[in-house]
Amino acid sequence: MHNQEALLARESAAIIVAAGSGSRLGGQVPKQFLMLGGKPVLRWSVDAMLRCNKIANIIVVAPPAFVAETTALLPGDPRLRVIPGSPDSRTESVRAGLKALSGHPPAKVLIHDAARPGLSLDVLDELITALDTAPAACPALPVADALKDTRGGGVRSVARDGLVRVQTPQGFQWDVITSAYAATTDAAVDDLTLVEVRGAKITLTPGSETLMKITYPEDLAVAEKLIASPALRVGTGFDVHGFEPGDAVILCGVRIPHTQKLEGHSDADAGWHALTDAILGALALGDIGDHFPPSDPQWKGAASVKFLKHAVKLAYDRGFRIANADITILAERPKISPHREAMRLATAEALDVSADVVSVKATTTEKLGFVGREEGIAAQAVVLLNR
Ligand code: CTP
Ligand code: MG
Repeated sequence: MHNQEALLARESAAIIVAAGSGSRLGGQVPKQFLMLGGKPVLRWSVDAMLRCNKIANIIVVAPPAFVAETTALLPGDPRLRVIPGSPDSRTESVRAGLKALSGHPPAKVLIHDAARPGLSLDVLDELITALDTAPAACPALPVADALKDTRGGGVRSVARDGLVRVQTPQGFQWDVITSAYAATTDAAVDDLTLVEVRGAKITLTPGSETLMKITYPEDLAVAEKLIASPALRVGTGFDVHGFEPGDAVILCGVRIPHTQKLEGHSDADAGWHALTDAILGALALGDIGDHFPPSDPQWKGAASVKFLKHAVKLAYDRGFRIANADITILAERPKISPHREAMRLATAEALDVSADVVSVKATTTEKLGFVGREEGIAAQAVVLLNR
């Protein structure tokens, strides 16, 4: 470790509260010990904190009856310590964590719910940096849904402007949080509440949907998708169309004059069909024929941009965006190279990405095979999606 990193490392500590019983989720064991993508929910946050080289000490606050079991679930790392918390009050569990750190008080402390496994290094970095100047900092997200107040039995709209949802870790300069805790014995909804009533200035940092809290049983499936499934997905696609009499082919959305056209139910754009299949493949959502059956008359002569945009939307709906795409056209004739740039730009536009992540290449097959005999054109595509 560089000297400067070592210095930074001494500055920050973290408390992960994991002493709750998970009553709203139900089940045999508290939610922080359930398995998520092959490791316990609690372990996700611990691993993220351990990867952050600015955090020197991590206190895990466990249910008093589970201290040994909790220790056994975690890596044997000298930065990590498991202590018993309070089964009855999160606030008291945090207080136990602060007390455990008070022997060697850090400059900054992050307080995090074990029930939020989707912690990233970016979130930690933003918080720790914000605490250089802010007494308190917290990741927050905008509120997207309309809000209604149902108190008193009615349903009344609540203005949403200026409202945010806050997450954890919540970060504090050490003196700020310890004096707030010293000043009260009340239970608080979160740690920020205790410093906010004392007028401390709070900086909001970017939150993240993956930082969601697991509270109810249905949250587990969402967390599994958002957090535990791989963040990168790769897919490949391949398509062939034969020639028939005509005057142009359509490839990657571009009309290229030729002595023949490509035969197919839709516009026979082999390039975009291969790309659509690559996106569907990355999502493991079947193939283009499943989504647009050739037997269905509504797709007769359809512009393939429809298929492509449908696949892109399926990706977006699942939280993925196109990292890059690479298409290869296999054709003896027409000559593709004069049209490559137009094909690349049209593809980037259809995918709604910048052109520098889209590649279109072309090759002949040296007069070999069906492509070489000019019976048709083939295309292959590979795409990378990231979340
Ligand atoms: N927590 C804690 N001590 C408590 C209560 C909660 O350390 N007495 C921790 C939980 O383990 C969790 C975080 O605080 O990581 C957020 O609390 P919450 O989501 O409410 O978890 P539980 O209290 O366990 O769940 P429930 O309220 O449904 O019983
Ligand atoms: Mg609770």
